[in-house]
Amino acid sequence: MIMVTGATGQLASLVLDELARREVPALGATRTPAAHQRRLDLDDPATIDLAGVSTVVLVSAGYAEDDQVVARHRALLEAAARDGVEHVVYTSLTGAGDHLGFALAHRATERLLEASGLAWTVLRNGLYAELVGALLTWTPAGLRSAFGDGAVAAVARADLAAAAAVVAAAPAEHAGRTYDLVGEPVTAGDVAARLGVPLEGIGLGEYRAGLLADPALLPFQPPMLASIASSVRHGFLAATGPDLATLLGRPLTDPLEVAVATAAAMRPDRAA
Ligand SMILES: NC(=O)c1ccc[n+]([C@@H]2O[C@H](COP(=O)([O-])OP(=O)(O)OC[C@H]3O[C@@H](n4cnc5c(N)ncnc54)[C@H](OP(=O)(O)O)[C@@H]3O)[C@@H](O)[C@H]2O)c1
Repeated sequence: MIMVTGATGQLASLVLDELARREVPALGATRTPAAHQRRLDLDDPATIDLAGVSTVVLVSAGYAEDDQVVARHRALLEAAARDGVEHVVYTSLTGAGDHLGFALAHRATERLLEASGLAWTVLRNGLYAELVGALLTWTPAGLRSAFGDGAVAAVARADLAAAAAVVAAAPAEHAGRTYDLVGEPVTAGDVAARLGVPLEGIGLGEYRAGLLADPALLPFQPPMLASIASSVRHGFLAATGPDLATLLGRPLTDPLEVAVATAAAMRPDRAA
């Protein structure tokens, strides 16, 4: 049996949908389980029951400080070894993302995985095209961005989910492999041009000040978001690669379309 962690999350639910579409039996595990799901809270290791599970798709449980994220992933890997899981598929971060504030937790998890004695596959996911669209902010005049002219090899979340399903369905074929799953270069200017609105570029200092003044953000978020903008504008996230299309056996979903759709949905006069 395949278990997918974080089953209510956007990526994990797409992985489960994709496995169902392929008629591969899989179980969702989440902090808030429905009737057919298993409860799993990585902050509470006592809830981690992997009995009967052969393959775990460990969807990274980010959105916290590094030490907390690594502790979550460590708890899952220790339980996997204890409960006889054979293979763990981990959704990590593209190699080009090493300068991002949240890279450390991913690389530390990869090291834990390699040392675990389990069979493993690492899916080094690029930045979601949805995220790229969501990080452009609307002003009365148009879009604002701290990305400069930098491109992101952005990737539709659904393509990453499909790749995870391909690997989970036949894990032995992918044992010991690290795939770098990036898409095609998208710039803030591309999104603005497609939407037919002006783009205002702002510097990292102004962007960072705005993040630090935002009471809705948790303490880890301003440096995390600033590191994304800094990496993009310095060109670190632009490189493309063949792994995703090879795994999927088809062309990628156009990430510009996805980023544009996300930004358009957030336009104040159009958002619900
Ligand atoms: N590549 C990118 O651009 C990008 C962007 C944002 C995030 N990420 C990373 O990719 C992951 C999946 O992305 P997403 O878009 O699906 O995010 P999402 O919709 O916000 O989902 C967050 C995920 O974190 C899980 N989680 C949080 N705390 C947990 C805990 N204590 N125990 C178990 N699970 C926990 C949630 O599981 P429950 O079902 O239990 O709620 C859920 O699957 C994120 O968690 C983050 O690490 C990647």
